[in-house]
Order: sequence, then structure tokens, then C-alpha cells
Amino acid sequence: MTEQPLTDGFGRRHRDLRVSLTDRCSLRCTYCMPEQGVPWLAKPTLLSTEELLRLVAMAVDLGVTEVRLTGGEPLLRRDLVDVVAGIAAMTGDDGPVEVSMTTNALGLDRVADDLRAAGLARVNISLDTLRPDTFRELARRDRLDDTLRGVRAAAEAGFHPVKLNTVLLRGVNDQEAVDLLAFALEHGYQLRFIEQMPLDAGHTWTRHGMVTGEEILDRLRTAHRLQPVPTRGSAPAELFLVDGGPETVGVIASVTAPFCGACDRLRLTADGQLRTCLFATGETDLRTPLRAGAGDEALQRLVTSALAGKRAGHDIDDPAFLQPPRPMSAIGG
Ligand code: 5AD
Ligand code: SF4
Repeated sequence: MTEQPLTDGFGRRHRDLRVSLTDRCSLRCTYCMPEQGVPWLAKPTLLSTEELLRLVAMAVDLGVTEVRLTGGEPLLRRDLVDVVAGIAAMTGDDGPVEVSMTTNALGLDRVADDLRAAGLARVNISLDTLRPDTFRELARRDRLDDTLRGVRAAAEAGFHPVKLNTVLLRGVNDQEAVDLLAFALEHGYQLRFIEQMPLDAGHTWTRHGMVTGEEILDRLRTAHRLQPVPTRGSAPAELFLVDGGPETVGVIASVTAPFCGACDRLRLTADGQLRTCLFATGETDLRTPLRAGAGDEALQRLVTSALAGKRAGHDIDDPAFLQPPRPMSAIGG
């Protein structure tokens, strides 16, 4: 497509669509969900397989080339393999649409081969600790072994590279940075540390509690030589060669070094709301017009006008910053 309809008011061309498949999760990570009393999305509002594929196809038609499946936990969605197959069969501006998934890996061992056969290109697995007791505290479930089994299954199914995402929380798992990197290096996984963002349902995020990218690098430098890899593009991770490489470690400093200027992401929630930013306080309802029979062009106009209102950045550093009303589990990571 030559006219690039997904270019926003700041000249940012959007190619990456993150689709949340469900707000349910098999874990209750403290930085994401409350322990109980989650206000679940109502069943009838969740998009069906067909509705979801229609909206994704419409976005691909507008110029999306990459789709990332998120949650909640995408593995809890029963039609996951069909969703992957449906999207992988679409063709965008740059050829076949690339489909990846962010997951906690619980139960991944049962479907990793099917997902790969369906066309899933990559997986990002959340792994915050290697200690069972810390896992229980952080994710409020005793599932470290199941998580590690899922990580192994991803590698065995041929996903390469297996990316691991870690959020460090002060006083909880922040002493494990070096151990987690050792684990990743040993198995050939690509580890990325993500600064904790103010997206938890409990609204417990504080600037002091957040372990900054600089701190993470300081910790890693106690054991390794790190050398920045130039070129970042729209990829949020800053990469560092570990001890001369070729292995790398990434730091996603979403709060202290925002990459909004290069943002190419759009988000679709499991109940069919379009979000132009993780931190947007408004959303555009695509489900209602879709169910009322809107044609592709009408839906596409809703997308492009939402994008026209996309703001320059997330302003977490602004004292007037407001946390979005939905928790991360209902937005999608
Ligand atoms: N801050 C940073 N990352 C988060 N994730 C979930 N909540 C937060 C948060 N508040 C991460 C998960 C996972 C991805 C979906 O987003 O660890 O890797
Ligand atoms: Fe579930 Fe991921 Fe949220 Fe943890 S961070 S509760 S694994 S959605």
C-alpha cells in the first residue's frame, strides 16, 4: 500500500498490531493483576475467532505487517491454534504477516508443536525468577516448574530465538539479574529486562520501587562486560553484547528512556477496543460497529481517525500522568 494510512500525526508509520486474546490468566503477577476481585470482561463482549480475524485482516489491509498475540494469557484461549493459522495465512505489505506470542508458558508444552505448525514465528516468555519461593510470591501461584517446562518446550519445538522477559521488583527478585542472565546464556535464550510500568491493577507502582534500566545494567556489569549494540529502530529493547558476544541481553527502559518517538504499535483488546497506546486513557470501540454490520471501509476509518489522535508519548514522567483504567491483563503487553 503506497499511501500508508497508518501514519499518525507525528509521522510514525504503524506496522505492529498487538492483539489481546483474553484478559484471563493462569498467574496473578503482582505487577499486573490483583490477587482476587478481577473485573473480568463479560463473555458476550469477547470477540469470536471470526470477528477477531476480520479485524486483524482489516488492519493488515491498512498496513500492519506484524501481529503479536498477548493476554492475559493467550494459551487460555481455546481457539489459539486457529487464530494463529488464520493470521499467518494473511499477506501484508512485506509478505506473509509475522505472528508472535507473549506468554507465561504455562501449558505451552502441550501446544508448542501445533502452534509452530500453524505458523507462529516467535515466542516471548515471561520469566521473572528461577526460585520457587520467589515465583510463588511474585506470581501468587506455585508454578515455576510448569513455566520452565514450557520454556524448554518452546525451544524443543524449534522456536528460535526463545526470548525471555523479566520484570525486576525491588526486594522481590532484583537480586536475580545475574542468575537469570546465566540461565539464558546457558540455554541460548535471549533475555530482556523490562522496567516495571504503572499498569498494575492494584495501583502499587512507585518510581522508587521501579528498578531502572541503569540499575539493571549496573547489576549485570558486576559479572559481565556489556557493550551497546547500535541501531534500535522501533524495537524497544536496547541490546548489549555480553562479554564480547555474540550473545546479547536487552533492557527495555519504557519509563526512564521512552521509545515513543519510534512507536509503531496499535492494540486491540479481547473485547474489540482499539488502543493507540498502552497508556491511552481512551479507546475506540470496533466491536459494536463490527457486530452492527459495518463494512471494512467504515471500520478502517475508525482506525485511522483513532490514530490521528494518537499522542506523542506516554508522559509517565508528567505529574499529571494518569494510569489507564484497564489493568495490563486486559490491555495486552
Ligand atoms: N510493567 C512492565 N511489564 C509488564 N508486564 C506485565 N505487566 C507489566 C508492568 N506493569 C510484562 C510481562 C510480560 C509482558 C506481557 O508484559 O512480564 O512479559
Ligand atoms: Fe498473567 Fe502475564 Fe499478567 Fe503475569 S504478567 S498475571 S503471567 S498476564
